[in-house]
Amino acid sequence: MRIEATAPGKVILFGEHAVVYGRPAIAVPLTQVRAAAAVEPNPEGGIRLVAPDLAVDIQLEEAPYDDPLAATVRQVARAAGMPKLPGLILTVSSQIPIASGLGSGAAISAAIIRALAAYLAQPELSTDEQVSALTYEVEKIHHGTPSGIDNTVVAFERPVYFVRRQPRNLVEAFRVASPLRLLVGDTGVASATKLVVDDVRRQWLAERRVFEALFDRCGSIAESARDAIERGDVAEVGKLMSANHRVLQEMTVSSPELDRLVAVAVDAGALGAKMSGAGRGGNMVALVSAEEEEAVRTALAQGGARTILTTCLSA
Ligand code: PMV
Repeated sequence: MRIEATAPGKVILFGEHAVVYGRPAIAVPLTQVRAAAAVEPNPEGGIRLVAPDLAVDIQLEEAPYDDPLAATVRQVARAAGMPKLPGLILTVSSQIPIASGLGSGAAISAAIIRALAAYLAQPELSTDEQVSALTYEVEKIHHGTPSGIDNTVVAFERPVYFVRRQPRNLVEAFRVASPLRLLVGDTGVASATKLVVDDVRRQWLAERRVFEALFDRCGSIAESARDAIERGDVAEVGKLMSANHRVLQEMTVSSPELDRLVAVAVDAGALGAKMSGAGRGGNMVALVSAEEEEAVRTALAQGGARTILTTCLSA
């Protein structure tokens, strides 16, 4: 028996970084690029972890504590109350670029959790809530203080309005009154989320008042954006994306490559554009009308975007 599962990438539309500090954020799944996991019996016994794209082929016992595949398998084993798992081969692959702000790590974990839960006949572990919660535990190993938005959007696979808070995060679905066409352009510059998140924390500690004010601005932009999306005011959504980008520049998390692609998109007629995710590399996202989509895509390609993905949030 071979069991497969997948999970999508994600794009943060509003509120990255500020979301770590309790401000609202909006993220959407990027369903065209997915991570996949397959689980099958291992005739040789033992638990073998295979990631052909990364040239990984190791036994679970040999894997370091922070190996992401091993950490996910261990989380599932713990949650299932099965300290000794049956022999199996876990194979993972992903179309989501790594270290580019599209949630590749969270998607790989979510796909593994779903495939393993089915293989081990543990349906209670494959609810969206559980997949999100277990993915969050793995994200903590890599990111230190993740807000929880990445695991939420890849597990629920729908647009979310998210606020990090105790004892439970606020996760709300919202109405998309008019379709939002998005182009996601990759700078090709790899950036480690943890380093950028740590640097923002260092700056926040040094200049609390300044950074709290920047986070407040991101939070109110995200709130206005939700309202504009629910009213179907697409032009306003675009303006708010560009406004959010300017605040992220002030936070020092943008980069020359991101700024360039954002400017190129707006010059070519996008309704708005911003970096997305941790920043200092990775991806940007532009909101386009049907008429301008091709012109913006061409401009992004000529402006140096390595790949351009399209997604449309529909009503
Ligand atoms: O994983 P990335 O690069 O999309 O960044 C996550 C978004 C941050 O707000 C920067 C961090 C977080 O945990 O929310």
